[in-house]
Amino acid sequence: MSNIETMQRRRSCRTYDPRPVEPEKLAELRDFLLSNHTGPFNGRLRFQLLAFDEMPAEETRFLGTYGVIRGARCFILGAVGRGPQAMEDYGYAMERNILKATELGLGTCWLGGTFRRSGFAKRFNLSEDELLPAITPVGYPGERRSATERFFRFSAGSDQRKAWDELFYDRDAATPLSRESAGPCAKALECVRIGPSASNKQPWRIVRTEGAFHFYLCKTPLYDTFFKDIPLQNIDMGIAMCHFELASLEIGQAGAWTVAPTIPPEDWEYIASWVARR
Ligand SMILES: Cc1cc2nc3c(=O)[nH]c(=O)nc-3n(C[C@H](O)[C@H](O)[C@H](O)COP(=O)(O)O)c2cc1C
Repeated sequence: MSNIETMQRRRSCRTYDPRPVEPEKLAELRDFLLSNHTGPFNGRLRFQLLAFDEMPAEETRFLGTYGVIRGARCFILGAVGRGPQAMEDYGYAMERNILKATELGLGTCWLGGTFRRSGFAKRFNLSEDELLPAITPVGYPGERRSATERFFRFSAGSDQRKAWDELFYDRDAATPLSRESAGPCAKALECVRIGPSASNKQPWRIVRTEGAFHFYLCKTPLYDTFFKDIPLQNIDMGIAMCHFELASLEIGQAGAWTVAPTIPPEDWEYIASWVARR
């Protein structure tokens, strides 16, 4: 399966089938996690797959999700060293794990809020200079979504995305970029648009200029005050960078990330630019 197809297929899954994941698939996923230890800003990351069936029952007692996730027996946990762009690095790298799991036919769901962070952090031996920003369950999707899951999807409007003209711009932040004028890069931008984001807020804004795409964060007022150390919308930006990069490479639009601050519109924060390789 191509990365673009995998991104198109991914959906958050909160209800899991009791069928255990085969040991070979768990091993493949574990190998992938081991190889995935940095992001575009060179942060230091580590990931681990916890399989409840391999643990004594009393150890799983404090590893809950407040009833949001049903039936999951495996979770991917991750840690990132504290630093200025740690959340973007985490979003980028954890999304690669999520796409790997999707490719293996498994369901996942980013959890940045509805999980017992302290319980999982303790199990992961988190050090003082590390953060555990988010986790994901992994397993076979259940046949029917639970009522809680239906409620979550409905309240976040998870099946909808903002229109192109709200997310993508041409040369400046006032001129919308249409699919037609985006040319071959439309595919990569569309992969950003279909990506997951906390509460489906879609805070990504992208401005295309000659040979470059500039990524900005349009923060939702007060949203990131919930978890002081973990600004979820910066994680969303890392996810957008992951999707854009993987899709661009797949359609033969090579490039690299750079930080070349431009003057952002008042309510946007500059994150990074993808500069096309000539
Ligand atoms: C950084 C981040 C944090 C999230 N945190 C949660 C969470 O705590 N609980 C939850 O049920 N969903 C969470 N989600 C999932 C989003 O609600 C979901 O991605 C969005 O509604 C879009 O739906 P989709 O993933 O099915 O495309 C999170 C997503 C992201 C990217």
